[in-house]
Amino acid sequence: MAEYNKKTVEDIDVSGKRVLVRVDFNVPLDANFKVTDDTRIIGALDTIKYLSEKGARAILVSHLGRPKNGFEEKFSMKPATARLSELLGKPVIQAADVIGDDARAKTGGLKNGEVLVLENVRFHPEEEKNDPAFAKELASLAEVYVNDAFGTAHRAHASTEGVTHYLPAVCGFLIKKEIEFMGTALSNPARPFVAILGGAKVSDKIKVIENLIDKCDSIIIGGGMAYTFVRAQGFGVGSSLCEEDKIGLAGELLKKAEARGVKFLLPLDTIVAKEFKNEAESKNVLIGEMPDGWMGLDIGPGAIKEFGAVVAEAKTVVWNGPMGVFEMPNFAVGTKEIARALSESGAISIVGGGDSAAAVEQLGFADKISHISTGGGASLEFLEGIVLPGISALLDK
Ligand code: 3PG
Repeated sequence: MAEYNKKTVEDIDVSGKRVLVRVDFNVPLDANFKVTDDTRIIGALDTIKYLSEKGARAILVSHLGRPKNGFEEKFSMKPATARLSELLGKPVIQAADVIGDDARAKTGGLKNGEVLVLENVRFHPEEEKNDPAFAKELASLAEVYVNDAFGTAHRAHASTEGVTHYLPAVCGFLIKKEIEFMGTALSNPARPFVAILGGAKVSDKIKVIENLIDKCDSIIIGGGMAYTFVRAQGFGVGSSLCEEDKIGLAGELLKKAEARGVKFLLPLDTIVAKEFKNEAESKNVLIGEMPDGWMGLDIGPGAIKEFGAVVAEAKTVVWNGPMGVFEMPNFAVGTKEIARALSESGAISIVGGGDSAAAVEQLGFADKISHISTGGGASLEFLEGIVLPGISALLDK
């Protein structure tokens, strides 16, 4: 598996230097272009403040969304810059482009301690192609490169990987923290080590399960993906989501877990509904007794109790993926209760990005979780044991 021991922003001289900082300000905006979730901006604050305090001239670069046609106002970094300025309590300069005249003039005019945000780096198609000439241009704006965009570390793009060929490259405090929490859980966890995996599809989580079977003491499975495993055990699942072509693989994973002595927990019971909607008629049934024409949309109370007991005994828990159709309030109970169990356990608790992170935030349990990853795809790939190019390209200690 990938183990990282990378130089950080504290291992390099930044004072008075122009420092290109890759952040992940890929944040959601509302119809009025206001940032609706600033978690990722907050995640990068320690690094930005550190650079300012050291008298560095910080040049922030990020993507937002997936623009395909050059500049489009709806993908501009301006709302994120405005929020950053509020959070820092000081003005932040906004460039009108990425490597154009305005960016050059503004980076050239930066004073020690000032912060500048370039426009959305994906306004240039060369970014996602990791085009060397574009990476070189971007790098030429600065003397040092800091990557603190954990959420984008699984992309080998010009601003995450390409620039490291032209500048001394280190990580910021957010990447350092993400590596410390998730890396330690995978390489040297306090035991029992429990993984809770949910979400709709087994196919999204196969590699994570394969990687964690070698490391965990227990694997808890919830969400839509549980039903493919239930089928692999020979039970019917009514009209629940089931990936027919993955039933064989699910069976192999069950066998592999058994052979390794890893407890593989599927829900004992499940809330089934007649239709895929919040108001649908629903009831709790045992997992082997799912009636035809009904679909499982959440884990049942027996499963909540059993999973909760395993979490209560754990010393390390990694959670990725909701236990049910969390966006529908009537089927969010399982996800909420697992979030509660996690917040009440004394375990080192790590929540992967995406829906499970949103669940603990919305339920007010965030401050009781040891680490909530700012990565969605990146944290999943980390748990899969895949090398993240945005991190591996940085200087080793
Ligand atoms: C994310 O939101 O997962 C990251 O910002 C990466 O975005 P992308 O999937 O568009 O590369």
